[in-house]
Amino acid sequence: MKETHIEVKNLWKVFGKNPNQVFEDSYSTKSRSEIQSELNLITALRDVSFSVDKGETFVVMGLSGSGKSTLVRCLTRLIDPTAGSIVIDNKDIIKYDQNELRDFRRSKIAMVFQQFGLLPHRNVIDNAAFGLEIRGIKKDSRHAIAEEMLNLVGLDGWGESRIDELSGGMQQRVGIARALAVNPEIMLMDEPFSGLDPLIRRQMRKELTTLQEEIHKTMVFITHDLDEAVSVGDRIAIMRDGEIIQLGTPMEIINTPANDFVSEFTEGISSNRIDELQALEG
Ligand SMILES: Nc1ncnc2c1ncn2[C@@H]1O[C@H](COP(=O)(O)OP(=O)(O)OP(=O)(O)O)[C@@H](O)[C@H]1O
Ligand SMILES: [Mg+2]
Repeated sequence: MKETHIEVKNLWKVFGKNPNQVFEDSYSTKSRSEIQSELNLITALRDVSFSVDKGETFVVMGLSGSGKSTLVRCLTRLIDPTAGSIVIDNKDIIKYDQNELRDFRRSKIAMVFQQFGLLPHRNVIDNAAFGLEIRGIKKDSRHAIAEEMLNLVGLDGWGESRIDELSGGMQQRVGIARALAVNPEIMLMDEPFSGLDPLIRRQMRKELTTLQEEIHKTMVFITHDLDEAVSVGDRIAIMRDGEIIQLGTPMEIINTPANDFVSEFTEGISSNRIDELQALEG
């Protein structure tokens, strides 16, 4: 049985002064660039709606500037949307007060960043345990959990090493272990592998897929790489200029691209990947 975990409805984020001007009738049919030149406002998200099931890996894909990071920042309320709702576990997180927001960030959601965001002067285990440390968990307990998470991401025995002794791929595994250590219900990953070289990147995708089979977290994974999107995603939302222009399973997107923009992406997908997907779908 599928169970909805995150429901985003009619979400808008408009950067600039008096953002509500974009809701006036005269702007409803104008493009993002027209709005930008006429009102000096940036429509980073434009009426975005989608839902993510429990345990699903939901990918948001789009070119630079399409609004992907703005969307994940809204999901953690690092930025407040201009309009719309984000319902997680039947509560609209937009309406949370400071206390509810703090609890939400502590217990429900964890984020993995593109630049890993590790503390360079601390060893691996203290980095992996960082989220637990700021929650006030005692050293022994937090190290025990962190070690378990390091094992899970294939870093057994590296706990005492310094961060700068690790390769990029290993550092990002520490970032993933740190996020998992707080046992979040939802993992947000904003281009977690894009700082890595292509070979490592492909390996990390595979590892993430294997890990996900074990942990079944609800994941929102951001990427600008369609090959990556189809290999990790259960479903993919393709964004352009702040709007979702297609949403579907990898096969749906490859077989029936919604428009030329999408087919330009899908043409670049390797035939090996398509064979793999077809095998998976039986
Ligand atoms: N704080 C801000 N103030 C003004 N404009 C912003 C702000 N943050 C983002 N934008 C604009 O919103 C749009 C979407 O940006 P966003 O960072 O969400 O894109 P992205 O899809 O994550 O791109 P990338 O792939 O480069 O990370 C861009 O035009 C950007 O310039
Ligand atoms: Mg971004």
